[in-house]
Amino acid sequence: MDNNKPKRRIRYSGKYPKKFEEKYKEKQPDKYQDIIEHVMSKGNTPAGMHRSIMVDEILEFLDIKPNQIGLDATLGFGGHSKAILEKLNYTGHLHAIDVDPIELPKTYERLINAGFTDHEFTLHQMNFSNFDQIPVKEFDFIIADLGVSSMQIDDPKRGFTYKSDGPLDLRMNPNIGVSASIRLKELSQAEIEGMLVENADEIYAKEIALEITKAKANGESIETTKDLYLIIKKALNHLSKQTQDEAIKKASQRTFQALRIDVNHEYEALYEFLEKIPNALKKDGKVAILSFHSGEDRLVKKAFQFYQRQGIYRFVSGPDLPTYDEIHTNPRARSAKLRCAIKS
Ligand SMILES: C[S@@+](CC[C@H](N)C(=O)[O-])C[C@H]1O[C@@H](n2cnc3c(N)ncnc32)[C@H](O)[C@@H]1O
Repeated sequence: MDNNKPKRRIRYSGKYPKKFEEKYKEKQPDKYQDIIEHVMSKGNTPAGMHRSIMVDEILEFLDIKPNQIGLDATLGFGGHSKAILEKLNYTGHLHAIDVDPIELPKTYERLINAGFTDHEFTLHQMNFSNFDQIPVKEFDFIIADLGVSSMQIDDPKRGFTYKSDGPLDLRMNPNIGVSASIRLKELSQAEIEGMLVENADEIYAKEIALEITKAKANGESIETTKDLYLIIKKALNHLSKQTQDEAIKKASQRTFQALRIDVNHEYEALYEFLEKIPNALKKDGKVAILSFHSGEDRLVKKAFQFYQRQGIYRFVSGPDLPTYDEIHTNPRARSAKLRCAIKS
């Protein structure tokens, strides 16, 4: 045996699990509380968790009283719901909706483990555009925190981000509708370009739509998030080396956002939801909505102003933004805008 042969360096396994499925948070958050706190102190969100945004501002506006009946239209991780349930303090009732059949049962368990029961809350797996199907005549308050949760973004199997490879799906409810991959097959070049502009103000919409169409014509696969990312990269190949990396990152974020809005019919759902709110609120009932991009915010603003002009809302406010501290500790809060209204 050759003793002079250099020993093979032991591979550094890293401190954190490399794969989403191995991450600690989902499975044993109690055991790994210190790691979770460390990850959060660095401004990151541990996989499988979601940090709720502008909770204090929303609670201050709602000023919840005992025995009130509320609706959280976007349950997600249950952060806002839990804060509301604590304020209700085992009186009244909270109805909470999410369209996602994968995350909703986990959040149900989380709320039960936090000490709440079916007496205090009811979860509904449905689209919030149908919330009028819940058998409650009038709510004291309604909140919505639009978009997707960190758990959905961080799970590569859901295909919400170009940052990890997975099926190009992007559906909040994978049991209905079609995936983003199929949707791209269905759309013409002009339709893809229009979708990118309308849903995300994509400045390279023409180039990306052209490259997607060329890939389809060549029979190339656009089945995974990585396939689409590489097409976007190719479409921006003409940019200078200095600007390319940042431009590809931004264009990928916007393209994935545009596709997500499309496959989930997000604008249609929000429009219907906003239209139904006035009829579903008691006199002096309150609504608070958090949005994360200009398309959503514009719809919320227009609806609130419209109903204020009609005398249906006696007060509207916003956009209110998260504090500097909140954005610093949770960068996912940076684009949040809060708008509120009170029924006459
Ligand atoms: C930003 S997260 C909400 C996070 C939550 N407020 C919390 O504190 O954990 C948005 C959630 O709304 C859900 N959602 C988005 N659009 C929806 C719709 N039209 N109907 C029902 N749920 C929807 C998503 O599936 C996601 O779980």
